[in-house]
Amino acid sequence: MAKPPKFQAIRGTRDLLPPETALWNRVEEAAHAVFGTFGFGEIRPPIFEPTELFARAVGGETDIVSKEMYSFPDNPDLGHIEELKAQLLEMFVFYKESDYAGFFVHGVENFLQSIEQRSQRGELSVGSEAQSDLDKLRHIFARLPRTDWTSVPSEIDQETRDIIAQISLKVQMFRFSDSVALRPEATASVCRGYIEHGMQQLPQPVKLYYMGPMFRRERPQKGRYRQFYQIGAEVLGGSDAPAIDAEVIEMVMTFFDRVGLSGVELTINSIGHNAPDCRPAYVEKLRAALEQVKDKLGADSQRRIETNPLRVLDSKLEHEQPIIATLPRIADHLCADCAAHYAAVKRQLELRGVFFKENWRLVRGLDYYMRTTFEITAKGLGSQNAVCGGGRYDGLVELLGGPPTKGIGFAIGEDRLILSLQESGKGAAAQARDVYIAWMGEHAYAAAVRAAKDLRNAGFNVELPPTELKFGKALERADKLGSRYALILGDNEVSEGSWTLKTLADGTQQKFTEPELLDFLKSAKASGERA
Ligand code: HAM
Repeated sequence: MAKPPKFQAIRGTRDLLPPETALWNRVEEAAHAVFGTFGFGEIRPPIFEPTELFARAVGGETDIVSKEMYSFPDNPDLGHIEELKAQLLEMFVFYKESDYAGFFVHGVENFLQSIEQRSQRGELSVGSEAQSDLDKLRHIFARLPRTDWTSVPSEIDQETRDIIAQISLKVQMFRFSDSVALRPEATASVCRGYIEHGMQQLPQPVKLYYMGPMFRRERPQKGRYRQFYQIGAEVLGGSDAPAIDAEVIEMVMTFFDRVGLSGVELTINSIGHNAPDCRPAYVEKLRAALEQVKDKLGADSQRRIETNPLRVLDSKLEHEQPIIATLPRIADHLCADCAAHYAAVKRQLELRGVFFKENWRLVRGLDYYMRTTFEITAKGLGSQNAVCGGGRYDGLVELLGGPPTKGIGFAIGEDRLILSLQESGKGAAAQARDVYIAWMGEHAYAAAVRAAKDLRNAGFNVELPPTELKFGKALERADKLGSRYALILGDNEVSEGSWTLKTLADGTQQKFTEPELLDFLKSAKASGERA
């Protein structure tokens, strides 16, 4: 037999393993608890969505959508449809050469029938784009005269020729693949969900949080993965009161404090809004200023002067820094409303005792932001030190086909949060066992199974070896697993009803009856938890 291939996790993805997963769980539990105290409820959106959703929300020109998204056609049976299409085009060529349209018209009929049957059997998913193309094709097809197309018609009139030409064109253009994408972020999904479930009817604002994997085809490095995890929250609807911005930021800072993240630094900015007297006017000024220094900029920045001048401010290139420092600043160009909003957000943060720095260059890499943007960095992460990013996105729900809706939120990079906690010594230790049951003999085994069940029901972490081990060997294993106690059960102990409990740290032993043992362990645990 050929040697089986050696499988490995795909580049940029990884297994999260114990004991580290215990830390992930602790962090996630803290998020549920803290976000709950701020009145947020959990949403669990799907992991894949129409590609179009992210293209619209995040922006077709952004790196996330244009370079990093995992998108693919959602049709397993596409090959067959493509084959039918190719055959039809051959039949069309034949018709043009021979003036006999019978094969072509029949072919189209079969094509339409085959799609219908396959979609009824659930073998094809007909998305909205394909459905509308299909409807148009059927509509045109229905306009063909009802004749026996298999016989050789003497003459086809011009109108029929036009219809056949239109059908052929439609078949060529027919795209049966509605593209779906693994979500690169979840704000778009939450907004889609808000619209889909008519959440604007609920008391506003609606406060939702989520956690789970996101996917971006980035170059993997420390703190940057292709499958990574976010914990995020969104506030949708109601007003754009600066207190909402400040409370959302306060919430994430409270969470970081709860999990013990060190070296946390919050940076904020306002990027104005999309009205002629605000951001667009600034962007034009910035573009003009950039044109003046174009020759001194790198290729990426030069390109961005055209596509998205704000992103030049994001540049990390050493030699561009002194040039960027001289560029016009958005704070000096905000409209009166945005300037007042930003000033109020800062006051609200101060009121809540949330420390922040300002950075006029914080523009963020997603298109939906307006007004407040923020980022949080933490210690021990090297160049990928942003552990959270967020901002306001009024207008996004409307862009996705919903009612005008205010919105603000953030997402924490959970992988980075965990890395930073580990770097500062707050990682998880291997999970120790409370009780290791060392048993020998048939009667002892029955008692051991019973004891394991009772102890586990009482919440203890119990290890019960599946096969008999000599007591010496069993105690060795108990030690390796970091067990606190070993319960020693031989047939004698069981028949005498006197069970031996050994404390592994100091080697002391005590004897108990079965019910006494459980009471002892419970009270030892309770006093351990109090200590
Ligand atoms: P983002 O800045 O693209 O924003 O991502 C938020 C955080 O996710 C980053 O600060 C980082 O910690 C983490 N992250 C991003 N990409 C990776 C990666 N490849 N590997 C590891 N961690 C990563 C958003 O996603 C917005 N949806 C945030 C938001 C919510 N804004 C408003 N509401």
